[in-house]
Amino acid sequence: MTELSAAHDAAVTDRVRLAGSAYSSDRDLAARQSLYQWQTPRYDLPGIVAEQLGGVRGRGRVVDVGCGNGKFIQRLRQDRPDLDLLGLDIAPGILASVSAPVAVADVTRLPLATGSIDAALALHMLYHVPDIPQAVKELSRVVSHDGLVIASTNSERDKAELGDLWQRAAGDVLGTGRGPARISLSARFTLEKAPSFLREEFGRLETIGLPGIVTVHDPEPVIAHMASYRAWADQHDVPFDATIERARTILVDHIAQHGAFEVTCLGGILVCRR
Ligand SMILES: C[S@@+](CC[C@H](N)C(=O)[O-])C[C@H]1O[C@@H](n2cnc3c(N)ncnc32)[C@H](O)[C@@H]1O
Repeated sequence: MTELSAAHDAAVTDRVRLAGSAYSSDRDLAARQSLYQWQTPRYDLPGIVAEQLGGVRGRGRVVDVGCGNGKFIQRLRQDRPDLDLLGLDIAPGILASVSAPVAVADVTRLPLATGSIDAALALHMLYHVPDIPQAVKELSRVVSHDGLVIASTNSERDKAELGDLWQRAAGDVLGTGRGPARISLSARFTLEKAPSFLREEFGRLETIGLPGIVTVHDPEPVIAHMASYRAWADQHDVPFDATIERARTILVDHIAQHGAFEVTCLGGILVCRR
């Protein structure tokens, strides 16, 4: 079990896999983001982030580190055209669709002067970083003394039904009852673990919990979310595509019987100040 976790940790943080496959385009990230359109309540995440940046005055410098497909940058450019916004990511491919200025950069070595930034965003990305304490230190280094860092991640309990569905499907494929667990992307920096990392640099932490239930009447959004783990297909001791196909059949049966499939979501945003 420990060995499995170490291998999974290495795979979740492997830069070649992240830049060359998982985030070489926004296809898989977009599939994960789009599941939330079926969530109740719906949260306007970019709106919540924009609200938290309310204290950053005009011309203030904001950097979105690990900006991915620019979901947050796009919205901030609309809502806060007065901000000086920069998007950074280690994956050049995913930056292609994000409007400039953007640059390829690693959160553990930011190409930014000390104290030069009013707010840094690190949204759903710190769990991909091999040295999380160094990333937190670096975010702290670049923000000004009264600046803020906004991080986000998922609880260890997030989307438990998807983990369960995976294990049922994998067990059916292998003919072993319950199959091996799916890789967990956020396990290294969950909502439960995040405060202890962030408190090393920040005295004031506010956590905004975002609990909700995704309800689907069609298996495809859930299947697309599961398939978005394809960059880590080799980390599962079960054929990936066959497991996805089996999960689809289980979902079709479940929906025929119960009318819907529900997934419990528990994400959160951490607003950090010194
Ligand atoms: C799950 S996506 C989140 C994207 C976006 N922040 C969002 O919340 O929609 C994680 C992003 O972090 C980037 N990333 C991973 N490790 C990184 C690192 N060490 N430095 C900068 N970006 C990184 C990935 O390439 C990917 O685009």
